[in-house]
Amino acid sequence: SKLSRDIHEFATVPVEEHLWQQLEQRLYYLPGEFQDANTYQQLQDLLTRVDRECGTQGNYLFYLATASNFFCDIIAQLGRAGLVREDNGHWRRVIIEKPFGRDLDSARTLNQRISQVLKESQIYRIDHYLGKETVQNILVFRFGNGLFEPIWNRQHIDHVQITVAETVGVEGRGNFYEGTGAVRDMVQNHLFQLLTMIAMEPPVSFDADAVRDEKSKLLKAIQPLTAETVLTQTVYGQYGEGTVNGISVPAYRAEPRVASDSTTETYAALKLTIDNWRWANVPFYLRTGKRLPKRVTEVAVQFKQVPSLLFRNTSIDRLTPNFLVLRIQPDEGISFQFGAKIPGPTVQMGSVNMDFCYADYFGSTPSTGYETLLYDCAIGDATLFQRADNVELGWGIVKPILDVWSALPTRDLPNYAAGSWGPKDADELLWRDGRQWRSSARVNT
Ligand code: BG6
Repeated sequence: SKLSRDIHEFATVPVEEHLWQQLEQRLYYLPGEFQDANTYQQLQDLLTRVDRECGTQGNYLFYLATASNFFCDIIAQLGRAGLVREDNGHWRRVIIEKPFGRDLDSARTLNQRISQVLKESQIYRIDHYLGKETVQNILVFRFGNGLFEPIWNRQHIDHVQITVAETVGVEGRGNFYEGTGAVRDMVQNHLFQLLTMIAMEPPVSFDADAVRDEKSKLLKAIQPLTAETVLTQTVYGQYGEGTVNGISVPAYRAEPRVASDSTTETYAALKLTIDNWRWANVPFYLRTGKRLPKRVTEVAVQFKQVPSLLFRNTSIDRLTPNFLVLRIQPDEGISFQFGAKIPGPTVQMGSVNMDFCYADYFGSTPSTGYETLLYDCAIGDATLFQRADNVELGWGIVKPILDVWSALPTRDLPNYAAGSWGPKDADELLWRDGRQWRSSARVNT
């Protein structure tokens, strides 16, 4: 069957045949129309049969990986059919895929409508970034090591850069991507997850609500962008044709099911500031884009320079900054970059790295986040899922960006070649502050 072929192709660990066979025998397929009450009646009958045959005790997990405009209807139908009622000690949970809404208003409406059917504890809003081992490791790194907490603040940190660069284009998803763009597809969810993990205060425990409370607090502390600051602190881009990894690729506008005059952004960069005691005056620069030269997701924390340059009478005229880089994927690890004396009679400084690679210690890590998240949902742990307020706060932050960008009269697009590090304006965003993007500097030199 197709499933059997796919599991062997995509599983991140070798497939244990006897386990797969057991599972395969328990797979059922029921086609039906989302809007037809009959579908849910048939589903009810099928689930009752599965309960009897497999001893699943009435515990159901519904996973809505459908187009987002069906979420409300499906949940309402599940409710009407009694499929999400939790009684007799069994649980009923619903995973909702992204995009959760397409702006603040639609996310609010969606939350409000599904809360008429489901309790918050039954709702699992998924963001697969939270299932990634290296994303979860940010919390272990920060809160499990005494070394970092004292320096994790505006006293010691100059700024933070969060990069999610992809080499892929829209991969046949032109239809979806046209109405979405990089801010909705990546910034509001995945980049904000990384941001909250890096910047939130320590939670009082690792309970789902304790962690999600801290995330909300952090999102509330982000200084809201205004129409003016959207123009100076955000950059959009769309790729033209170019070469990625030695292969010529078409412009975004030439992709299937994309308008030839599309203004959808495939790249976004922004500068955010966090108005709290820990982070006052420490900018966070975020960027993401498709068809960039390299697939890399990383958080780079740049520390402040020493207060005065002691090496005036040497060839050292400036110091290279200390960077702590949390590499989320694909080359998972953590490195610390600092300056060291190059051996020799004169004082010269070189930049060196202390490097930790996951693969060296723990073998390779799973490449998707979904395995973890499905398991967590099955055991009822919502820590790594988004709560209603987290999602709405995220949409609230990007609202001015979406509003201003869509109101701009004309856009000079495409403004970066596939295979480059994005539009020039994104470099200027940092140059204006006397800074530069870390990996683009490394890759281009
Ligand atoms: C998805 C986006 O949520 O995340 C895609 O819709 C994107 O456009 C993908 O390519 C990136 O995920 P990952 O795990 O490859 O970083």
